[in-house]
Parts: sequence; C-alpha cells; structure tokens
Amino acid sequence: MIVLASDHGGLILKQPVIEVFDELKLPYRDIGTNSTESTDYPLWGYKAAQLVASGECEKGIVMCGTGVGISLAANKVKGIRCVVCSDCYSAKLSRAHNDANMLALGGRVVGPDLAKMIVRIWLETPFEGERHARRVKMIMDIERDQKLAL
Ligand code: RB5
Repeated sequence: MIVLASDHGGLILKQPVIEVFDELKLPYRDIGTNSTESTDYPLWGYKAAQLVASGECEKGIVMCGTGVGISLAANKVKGIRCVVCSDCYSAKLSRAHNDANMLALGGRVVGPDLAKMIVRIWLETPFEGERHARRVKMIMDIERDQKLAL
C-alpha cells in the first residue's frame, strides 16, 4: 500500500501519479488534500510519514509546490527517508542507494509527464543493499543518537 498526500500546490500532480499506480496495479491510499484551497503542507507530510513509519503503508508519495516543504516535514518523522526528485536519475538512485521510503514532487516544478516517469522509476527500482546498506544505517544512527560514531 502506498500513501499519497499533497497540499494545494501539489494537487495538480495527484491524478498523473494515480495513473502510474493504476498502470502498475499498485494499491494506494489517497489521504488528501482534494481541494485547491490553501492548506499547510507540514500537516500532509506528517500524516503520510506517520503511515509509512508505522508500517501501515510501505511507501509514500507526497507533493507540494516545490516538494521541499512537504519533504522536510516528512523527514522529521523517525524512520522516514523522503527525497525530493525532479529528475529520473535522482529518483532511481534514491531507491537503489538510499532506500528512500518516501518521494516528494513539486507541482510547480515538474510537469505531469515527467512526474509520471519519476514515480514509475522510483517505484520500480529496488534497494541494492551491500555497501549502501551500511551508509543508510549510518543515516539512521544519526537520527537515533543525534551523533555518528566516527
Ligand atoms: C504553498 O504555497 C507552498 O509554499 C508549498 O506548496 C510548498 O511549495 C512548500 O514548500
């Protein structure tokens, strides 16, 4: 199950992202917003991140105007590695090397077709593990201890 959330600035990408879920036959949970009325992106980043961190949802895709604010909010939830991507290469490597569990997109940055490509690549790329697992663990150690053993 993939959670999908956005503020008003990211709403324009919701339908294109849902098209990719449908093409890949992936179940999703759209938690809002579903209105163009101005709303606070931290709320949506937080709600989506909670569902991923709790294990209720395997991954999350969140959108705001830039993808930046909503990713910052999501990344404050323990266990979340949320990446803002505006290109396919970063999307691929954020899964292969960083084991990102959330993707953030900017509705005022990427168009719907590019957003669809990014989402498809991000969803289809597995984590490579090995040396990358060590590095991801280091990130999670910083989160847990607020320091890194050097
Ligand atoms: C809302 O206008 C905008 O600030 C928001 O969507 C996002 O871009 C924040 O990072």
